[in-house]
Amino acid sequence: MSIRSNVGHTKHDPLRLLEEARHADIENRIADTITTFAGSMPFVYLHIVWFTLWFALGVEEYPYGLLTMMVSLEAIFLSTFVMISQNRADAKRQVVADHQWEFVQTEEQQNEQLLDLSNQILSLTKAIHSMTASVAAARRPRVRRTRPPTSKAGTREEAPRGPRRRVTAVSHVFHRVLTRELPTAVRAEGVWIQDAEGRRYLDAAGGAVVVNVGHGDRSVIEAMTRHLERLQYVHGTAFTTEALESYADDLAPLLPMDDARIYPVSGGSEALETAIKLARSYHAARGEDRSVVFGRWNGYHGNTLATLDVGGKRALRRPYDAWLGRFEHVDAAYEYRCANPAHPHACGRYLADRLEAAIVEAGPERVAAFVAEPVAGATLAAAVPPDDYWPAVVEVCRRHGVLVIADEVMTGFGRTGAWFGVDRWDVRPDIVTAGKGSTGGYVPFGFAACSGEVFEAVRPTGFVHGFTWSHNGLGAAAAHAVLRRLRDDSLVDAARTQGERLLKELGSALSEIPVVGDVRGAGLMIGVELVAERDAKRPFPRSEEATERVLAAARDRGLLLYSSTGHVDGTDGDLIILGPPFIIGDDEVGLVVERTEAAVASIA
Ligand SMILES: Cc1ncc(COP(=O)(O)O)c(C=O)c1O
Repeated sequence: MSIRSNVGHTKHDPLRLLEEARHADIENRIADTITTFAGSMPFVYLHIVWFTLWFALGVEEYPYGLLTMMVSLEAIFLSTFVMISQNRADAKRQVVADHQWEFVQTEEQQNEQLLDLSNQILSLTKAIHSMTASVAAARRPRVRRTRPPTSKAGTREEAPRGPRRRVTAVSHVFHRVLTRELPTAVRAEGVWIQDAEGRRYLDAAGGAVVVNVGHGDRSVIEAMTRHLERLQYVHGTAFTTEALESYADDLAPLLPMDDARIYPVSGGSEALETAIKLARSYHAARGEDRSVVFGRWNGYHGNTLATLDVGGKRALRRPYDAWLGRFEHVDAAYEYRCANPAHPHACGRYLADRLEAAIVEAGPERVAAFVAEPVAGATLAAAVPPDDYWPAVVEVCRRHGVLVIADEVMTGFGRTGAWFGVDRWDVRPDIVTAGKGSTGGYVPFGFAACSGEVFEAVRPTGFVHGFTWSHNGLGAAAAHAVLRRLRDDSLVDAARTQGERLLKELGSALSEIPVVGDVRGAGLMIGVELVAERDAKRPFPRSEEATERVLAAARDRGLLLYSSTGHVDGTDGDLIILGPPFIIGDDEVGLVVERTEAAVASIA
């Protein structure tokens, strides 16, 4: 039934026309409502059936192309319907205007109802769409939108574009960085990492000073594959594995201790937790109740509560201060801002004396261990201690029966140009911890190793400790392959020679930039300290974000640097850390120098 036909023959009989029009109008509304629902419902049902099927079958990819087509069809249908309704309403308004009848009010009310109905259908459709989309989001790994850096110099042209990735507006990952969007890494080779946009980054940081044998090393990947093909998970209390035994056999002679025993874990923090508990267990097994452990201010040993506590990075401790305070601290060896009144004369002796005074004050019979990084890394950016430091502190500890724990998580496996950081001073700790470079970043791994003497003391009572992932065979297989690569291809020597080269070239390139206070390091562990005033060594106020600006400028130039802040007073202090893979070539060293210089100069 059509309103237009009514309009055509009612001019001569207004009363009949009014009656007919009312009648027709009501019928039309009912018919339209049924048509709308009838037209929309198949689409709604289709969504529900489709969604249920897709969910039940566990299909990973939701067919968004088809979904878009359906939404478009619905939109066309609804807009056609609304258009027809409007035409009808217009026609009736014409009749009303022509004859000045009184059902204008009724007409408007009916139009409003019609509009309400359309809106309800649209809301229903939207609700179904958002429901399917959110379930799809929960079931599929999401990729964040990558934002191209502001400058692309020397990065994009150097490699083919990476595989195309589906892009979504929201990531469900709780990222480590919450202040900016992260690019998606898709592949890495040698010293280069490539993102999904095809941009290439020279990894001058080795991640967090982790990657030593380089990215994409076939020998490591194949060793891990071979291991996984034979064995996956067995528990450390039920089995040992060939991977673990052969690794420990090859590693033990390289460790700076006699008759080493290796307790494998999943990373640096766990290694330190293990070492600290082992130190107490050693004393307990010998009938001594020693619980005091000395760490150092500005030392870094991890982010679990105990390792955060024994460490001395104030900015990281602050939010959790309420839970900390079980460990004691002395000053770290930090030559650029040394507290020794006679600096640079006998700073090592000065610090060892202060350690001894602290041990005496705590009661030597209560002190279990002293923990320190051979070269301070994550908080002090490659602060190399004076040569008299390590021999002096080890001598103090031995005199008081205090175990020496050398935290080699960053310095171990060639990073400083020697197998272990303490090798430089011929020091033999009681316990050594490792992580990062032990597997060069191929799989989470680390260990605490102790001397045969410590092990034999604990053996009768046992060591109350363990993790689900400790003694992991895959980690050992990767670590063994990394060890072979370092040993067979003289990569520790390479770290020393390329490190000397990088330190020298970087030192000279940065020497004229006024914000550079110090350039220091050992092997391929290098630090740059930024200052607002060079002569006074005055740090930048934290609010100026000097480090963050340098890192961003480097990223824009396709260079990755590592950083640390807050070391001067817990708030201020800006440090840049470099730790590239040992396979870095001469040209790449040149690029690191060039891009670092440009990045640092950009804030001067
Ligand atoms: C010296 C040192 N010890 C321990 C750790 C903690 O290692 P992870 O982050 O693997 O727990 C780090 C990490 O930077 C480190 O540099």
